[in-house]
Amino acid sequence: MLFSSLVTALVAATSVAAVKVNPLPAPREIKWGSSGPRTVDPRLHLRLDHQNLDNTVVFHAWNRAWQTIHTLRWQPAAVEKPIIDYPPFPTGIPPIEKRGSSWLSEINVQIEDKDAELQHGVDESYTLEVSEGSETIEITAKTTWGALHAITTLQQLIIVNDQNEFIIEQPVTIKDAPLYPVRGIMIDSGRNFISVPKILEQIDGMALAKLNFLHWHMDDSQSWPMHIEAYPEMVKDAYSPRETYSAADMRKIIKYARDRGVRVIPEVDMPSHSASGWKQVDPQMITCADSWWSNDVWPEHTAVEPNPGQLDIIYNGTYEVVKTVYDELSEIFPDNWFHVGGDELQVNCFNFSHYVMSWFAEDPSRTYFDLAQYWVDHAVPLFREGHENRRLMMWEDIVLSADAHAHDVPKDIVLQAWNNGLEHIQNLTALGFDVVVSSSDFMYLDCGQGGWVGNDHRYNVMVNPTPDTPNTNWGGDGASWCAPYKTWQRIYDYDFTQGLSDEQKKRVLGAIAPLWSEQVDDVTISTKFWPRAAALGELVWSGNRDADGNKRTTLMTQRLLNFREYLVANGIGATALQPKYCLQHPHACDLNKDQSVLH
Ligand SMILES: *[C@@H]1O[C@H](CO)[C@@H](O)[C@H](O)[C@H]1NC(C)=O
Ligand SMILES: *[C@@H]1O[C@H](CO)[C@@H](O)[C@H](O)[C@H]1NC(C)=O
Ligand SMILES: *[C@@H]1O[C@H](CO)[C@@H](O)[C@H](O)[C@H]1NC(C)=O
Repeated sequence: MLFSSLVTALVAATSVAAVKVNPLPAPREIKWGSSGPRTVDPRLHLRLDHQNLDNTVVFHAWNRAWQTIHTLRWQPAAVEKPIIDYPPFPTGIPPIEKRGSSWLSEINVQIEDKDAELQHGVDESYTLEVSEGSETIEITAKTTWGALHAITTLQQLIIVNDQNEFIIEQPVTIKDAPLYPVRGIMIDSGRNFISVPKILEQIDGMALAKLNFLHWHMDDSQSWPMHIEAYPEMVKDAYSPRETYSAADMRKIIKYARDRGVRVIPEVDMPSHSASGWKQVDPQMITCADSWWSNDVWPEHTAVEPNPGQLDIIYNGTYEVVKTVYDELSEIFPDNWFHVGGDELQVNCFNFSHYVMSWFAEDPSRTYFDLAQYWVDHAVPLFREGHENRRLMMWEDIVLSADAHAHDVPKDIVLQAWNNGLEHIQNLTALGFDVVVSSSDFMYLDCGQGGWVGNDHRYNVMVNPTPDTPNTNWGGDGASWCAPYKTWQRIYDYDFTQGLSDEQKKRVLGAIAPLWSEQVDDVTISTKFWPRAAALGELVWSGNRDADGNKRTTLMTQRLLNFREYLVANGIGATALQPKYCLQHPHACDLNKDQSVLH
């Protein structure tokens, strides 16, 4: 009697274990059979089709994945299940009955076009199949980059059971491809230096989360870390000789990223956010660098944060230096895209330029909008010259800034939308621009740390904030302008194409979560990105809705909690999201018992 009820309990646990493994991002289409787990040969080997015998990118990617599978011997902690059901299911995975001849002994990878380069829009689709009875795991992909995604999925599917055997739930059929071609994060190495190993760590996380776009905001007015051969003096404005990137460092990062299917798109922010580096080459090309930034007297402010500085748009010498730096970096970065900034032009800064002031004096009808146009007319042709396939990217301000936008911006420039959420995505796509979404209210990963400027009287209040005594610790405006902290649910639930026509939706190329680094460096960068960037990863890979069109955020919780553990195990310093109790007791920590509250 007792014995037979034990058997029943075991059988029930076995069928639940069939959904134990849930790779992140969730594939677009995944079908599980119910015959349960099978063992994987500890000597599982990779077979590449004959055209791909020399495909070292895939070969090394599989070797890394296999090494990880062997080293971690991973057992996911949480079962993803849709309903509250107490007591929680046991976390152990039962032994498998069949072994020997049914071992999976081989992965067969077939890639159609091994020469397709890692550039915007390259096909990243793949299929992965483990069928009953077959000893082979079948992977097909159009390109190497799709095959890499298949490998990061497979790496999450092969786990160990309680007998320490490698197993895979099967049969399983996956057909997968991303919703958006641009899926990224932004690293800012201008406000604080981020070391090469820390950047590589972020790329490791990106590859696992199928993020393919590293937007690298390299410099800012505060520091210039990149060695430029033409102007060796620029790195005098790095924080120290050690806190710099040599050409070899940059190439190392690019190669490491490419090997993992990640593009690296450099940003040199111009003409605003510019002082360090440039001023070493020619002090005249920078204006207002020595002014008081003046947020205490807002009408006179020359910058939105210290320290001020902008390229002098009218001074002729500016353009030669800009072109030389841009061309040298273009030699290093192979991507067809290049980000040339264009955000937050501060009009007062130009009062410190006699070139700009006399340009205004020559013709009193001239405005700051004309000045922004002058930049576009003179700089954009230089950015295109000699770079046939170049696609430029800029912040939305160049088109939407209330104080100083250009009148006529070429429509092939990709704009990064960061203000006013859905409204600006709507505005930009209606104007006919391709857009990458980085809405600060949803995707800025630096928000919510409080203000960082010193000598701030606003903290000197002994009560919670009221409209008369705003306290920057408590969100709203002030120094922590984009408070509060954006949680993973805030990111994942963002329906950023809401209200767009079908035509406009096609102009949304994807999303990038920026992490500005005023209060971030090597010590905290990984906790800031992860696991939140993985929530973005799924949002732009397979979306935030299930087949019925309902938000799947609640199920994603368990997937993300598992993935966070997996990131940490892989050496990526992802922060905790919940008490571990919640990971081990699915849905016990939900706000609502009703699992259908999200639509
Ligand atoms: C800058 O110059 C403009 C135009 O002359 C003037 O209106 C404005 O007050 C000046 N700003 C500062 C901070 O001096
Ligand atoms: C800048 O170059 C233009 C065209 O070559 C020339 O007309 C103008 O005088 C120059 N201005 C300055 C400030 O050197
Ligand atoms: C965006 O579009 C709305 C609606 O047409 C308009 O009211 C708003 O001024 C636009 N915003 C900008 C920055 O152009």
